[in-house]
Amino acid sequence: MNEPYEFYLKSADYVRARMPFQPELAVILGSSLGPFAAEVQNRTEIAYADIPNFPRCTVADHAGKLIFGELAGKRLVCLSGRFHSYEGYDFEQLTQPVRLLKLLGVRAAILTNAAGGVNLNYRPGDVMVISDHIKLNGASPLRGQNVEDFGERFFDTTRMYTPELRALALRVHEGVYFFMPGPQFETPAEIRAIRILGGDAVGMSTVTEALTAAHCGLPILGLSVITNMAAGVTGAALSGAEVNETGAAIGAKFSAYLKSILKEL
Ligand code: HPA
Repeated sequence: MNEPYEFYLKSADYVRARMPFQPELAVILGSSLGPFAAEVQNRTEIAYADIPNFPRCTVADHAGKLIFGELAGKRLVCLSGRFHSYEGYDFEQLTQPVRLLKLLGVRAAILTNAAGGVNLNYRPGDVMVISDHIKLNGASPLRGQNVEDFGERFFDTTRMYTPELRALALRVHEGVYFFMPGPQFETPAEIRAIRILGGDAVGMSTVTEALTAAHCGLPILGLSVITNMAAGVTGAALSGAEVNETGAAIGAKFSAYLKSILKEL
């Protein structure tokens, strides 16, 4: 599926006509990190289901709405609910959220996610600033007919995780996010391979959004919450419940950290 620029404009026009103000910054909320959105003040919500051409959310704990509001002195738009390839979306469809943000005119986006800890120095509850990613699985979201209005066919990714934003956020670990398509958690052998290849954390999201942002020149900051040690590290079985529990347990601390970054952005 390959859509022209006008397809994305139609979504953006709908949202622009209803948004209460011009947002400066965007936050994409990862699984189990939704509670942050509850802190946003003076909110206006727009359901994904009402936005023309926009994908629907299939994940139970992803709300599926845009939340406009204020926090830490900034005008924000939060995407509560994100799209993953494991839900069955085409990689090309995964460009839509970031292209919408670009058309809404934000000057930067913070991409958050829950991830498994591959680096043995990490612990559940730690936060990692993403310095770079490795995506050896699945297609590029930018494949197919290039939409020139967003960016060039061949585009640079060396500054994809914007160095200036990383520097602002760096009070935690910094490392490489390794994309795996899921929905199954990785095998212990895959995690050993990922560690040898240079991954510090592993997860099923974010990279398609980061690539879309690099293509259209939107600065981003990527933050991973380590919700569990990756498969094989402790020998314990992995579960979605563990991811949600850790996400909920560090929700308040993570929100405080995010707010401190928002103030400086
Ligand atoms: N693997 C992949 N994705 C994840 C994990 C994991 O261990 N934890 C949270 N998201």
